[in-house]
Amino acid sequence: MRKVTTCSLSIRLFNLSRSKTTGIPKILASFVLPTPHFGPMSQHKEIKLVTTHQMLAMKQRGEKISMLTAYDYSMAQILDGAGVDVLLVGDSASNVMAGHETTLPITLDQMIYHAQSVVRGVKRAFVVVDMPFGSYQGNSSVALQSAVRIMKESGGHGLKLEGGAEIKDSIIRILTAGIPVMGHLGLTPQSIYKFGTYNVRAKEEAEAQKLIEDAHLLQEIGCFGLVLEKIPATLAKRVAEELTIPVIGIGAGPDVDGQVLVVHDVLGITKEFKPRFLRRYAELHDIMTEAIQHYVADVKSRDFPSKEEGY
Ligand code: KIV
Repeated sequence: MRKVTTCSLSIRLFNLSRSKTTGIPKILASFVLPTPHFGPMSQHKEIKLVTTHQMLAMKQRGEKISMLTAYDYSMAQILDGAGVDVLLVGDSASNVMAGHETTLPITLDQMIYHAQSVVRGVKRAFVVVDMPFGSYQGNSSVALQSAVRIMKESGGHGLKLEGGAEIKDSIIRILTAGIPVMGHLGLTPQSIYKFGTYNVRAKEEAEAQKLIEDAHLLQEIGCFGLVLEKIPATLAKRVAEELTIPVIGIGAGPDVDGQVLVVHDVLGITKEFKPRFLRRYAELHDIMTEAIQHYVADVKSRDFPSKEEGY
């Protein structure tokens, strides 16, 4: 189990060697707090880092896994501090951060930039990075190169790829390099032009059957988890029951092992996007607009800055 402590160097080295035994790569230096505490062991504050092994254990004991997207340092700090288990550096950054209509335009370099920023903000959560469109389909050597770049340059802990049997070779090649991989089936937004709509997937028997087969395949080849997006709840339940690896749903009902949403939707920053599966926990678009209007008014009226707010 990877652990972080605020105490002495010897304890940090102890933890470093323990983390090596798990085989899970993580840059420990980033977890070491700036002011080490040299007091007695009983006062040491430990943060139990989320690992693929822990996620599996969570599924086994019936504890649901919480996952949200994050694309930058400040948001990652908030989400990690609030106890989110898994942060997904989603290619939905293409939509919510860059304003594109689809996830297709985002590049490998841009995903690495977002992932670097998120990793810097995290002390506990497991960081999964989406492989962007065009960086893994078709050619497993290209897939491995892209995967290695993301892992090396961002410090992320695992990758997510969209698709099943058709990208099997790419996934196996990446897994062989020791990189944890999460699958993604159902509505896979990188294939939006094939689907034609963002409607619920796998309602028909043939597509549902293919999804079940793909889910088993992804588990067999060694994926540590699976995201199911916008499929019937009964189908998602069946997949979660049949698989031993954690199944995380988005618009896939309650009977899966965890839930993921886009953080901008959860916080109500994206005001217009209101699919049925979304629960908003705040209305930040309104709150932020009001705050900024207040600021503009204060500048115009010369209320800001006051004498006390200057030097
Ligand atoms: O990119 C993303 O935000 C995702 C989630 C919707 C699962 O892949």
